[in-house]
Amino acid sequence: MSTWTLRDVPDQTGRTVVITGANTGIGYAAAAMFADKGAHVVLACRDPRKAADAVTRIHAMRPSGSVEPGLLDLADLDSVAAFAKALRAAHHRLDVLVNNAGVMWSPLSRTAQGFELQFGTNHLGHFALTGHLLPLLLRTPGARVTTMTSLAQKFGRIDFNDLNWRRRAYSRGAAYNQSKLANMMFVLELQRRLTASGSSMVATAAHPGWTTSELTRHSPAAIRWISTLAGMKPEVGALGLMRAATDPTAASGSYWGPRYFFETKGLPSSARMNRRAEAAAVAGQLWEESAALTGVTYPLPVGRSVTDV
Ligand SMILES: NC(=O)c1ccc[n+]([C@@H]2O[C@H](COP(=O)([O-])OP(=O)(O)OC[C@H]3O[C@@H](n4cnc5c(N)ncnc54)[C@H](OP(=O)(O)O)[C@@H]3O)[C@@H](O)[C@H]2O)c1
Repeated sequence: MSTWTLRDVPDQTGRTVVITGANTGIGYAAAAMFADKGAHVVLACRDPRKAADAVTRIHAMRPSGSVEPGLLDLADLDSVAAFAKALRAAHHRLDVLVNNAGVMWSPLSRTAQGFELQFGTNHLGHFALTGHLLPLLLRTPGARVTTMTSLAQKFGRIDFNDLNWRRRAYSRGAAYNQSKLANMMFVLELQRRLTASGSSMVATAAHPGWTTSELTRHSPAAIRWISTLAGMKPEVGALGLMRAATDPTAASGSYWGPRYFFETKGLPSSARMNRRAEAAAVAGQLWEESAALTGVTYPLPVGRSVTDV
């Protein structure tokens, strides 16, 4: 039985944490928990008013909490680069990067650089952000990158012929599934590359099962209604992410999510890995494609083939 709760989050005093999409839902809940545990938290959000409002709400609940807003639009690589540059200038350490922000089932639309919105935001934006912040993470002892995926990854397929949905008929659901499988493959490939380069930095993944949030904003009204009634509260749904981001026993490459009802509800425990996500050759190709699309390369020495690790 899983009994891991907020009480199990170790003291975070002196640590700096960046959380993407921290103005609402799971990201906001996680930001409040990190602040509660003493971390300095950067709320990386695309809307400055929503970010400022979230900072105010956290301060109202936890006057001693150390939080600051940051401007980050993952759907614009220029914004990602500018956010990372400002963060590197203002902070000398980054202990935890939480790649949480996401968009689901949006109608076909494109990022500033022309990528399909869900793949561009959920995967490519976070790929670029992590790459830009890697030097800071590598300088910080015990640093960790935690990325949010979804049970939807099980249905995902990476289509290298059309990653950005230019030739095939658009499917909102399939596009989301692809982006979430890409999130999981990113974590496992990052872990392989860190290991191959001799780094002890940790990369972990989480999913929140079924959690009530604004993620259903593009969903039919019936799904929004059911989700409000049946989903977990964000403070519970965020615990898998918190465990992946802070549990000292969470190994690099580990994956965390709710324990019960096919991993849709409950306190966090080790989640079942999707076999497709473990296809290292596909993950390696996705990494190279992501680097080419974003123009972001990772400063990790590649001594030997990562697929040999
Ligand atoms: N809720 C669930 O049951 C569930 C299940 C599986 C996976 N997830 C994953 O959990 C993560 C958090 O989702 P949530 O449920 O908390 O949803 P949410 O309430 O909709 O929160 C999503 C956050 O992402 C931000 N965001 C969206 N596009 C962005 C962009 N271009 N740049 C920066 N931030 C952006 C949103 O900002 P705005 O407020 O400005 O839009 C918001 O802060 C997502 O990765 C989602 O895929 C959730």
